[in-house]
Amino acid sequence: MKNIVVLVSGGGTNLQALIDAQRAGKIKNGKITCVISSKEGVFALERAKSNGIKAVVLPRKDYGDVIEYSKAMLETLQSEKADLVVYAGFMTILDKLITKEFVNKMMNVHPALIPSFCGKGFYGLHVHEEVLKRGVKLTGATVHFVNEVCDGGPIILQKAVEIENDDTPEILQRRVMEQCEWKILPQAVSLFCEGRIKVVDNKTVIS
Ligand code: GAR
Repeated sequence: MKNIVVLVSGGGTNLQALIDAQRAGKIKNGKITCVISSKEGVFALERAKSNGIKAVVLPRKDYGDVIEYSKAMLETLQSEKADLVVYAGFMTILDKLITKEFVNKMMNVHPALIPSFCGKGFYGLHVHEEVLKRGVKLTGATVHFVNEVCDGGPIILQKAVEIENDDTPEILQRRVMEQCEWKILPQAVSLFCEGRIKVVDNKTVIS
């Protein structure tokens, strides 16, 4: 059984999707053992507590720079014996001292079809604003492994939705979450825990 540690910074709807999938028996060979938040008082922490999952707050604002924060995060992940680390709306970039320790053992859900609308500065609602500004006809979500390049690690799963004429960033964000993120994140976590993801030449092969 793999220990899954989920990193959050906000409302935690993706965390909830993982909790619901776990309850429905859809996360095979893995268990959410800890939730770590980079912010105090966020609703994701309530979701963890009300589901009996250990919740830890590691406030980003308490650390002077990303290296100090990453060291503290690494210690916490090691003491939690994390086998898989999942960024579920985690809005802090961590130093490579962490990604080096968790090569292809750390995944992120991004609210667009990578390599479009990704990289530094593309997060949350802003991604959907840019999607609508550009006028693309399809968008979606991507689950990928985290490496030292922001949103640059091997892609695990992607799912697309169509843009509609009267979309606002908020409406589109909701559609991408419901139809894409909340589906592919639990699927990717289960595939990992079942040992079904291999990485070859920076690409994943799913068996
Ligand atoms: C989600 O849409 C997630 O994909 C996005 O933030 C939202 C968090 O929602 N993450 C990023 O933009 C990371 N680059 P949640 O807290 O309700 O899961």
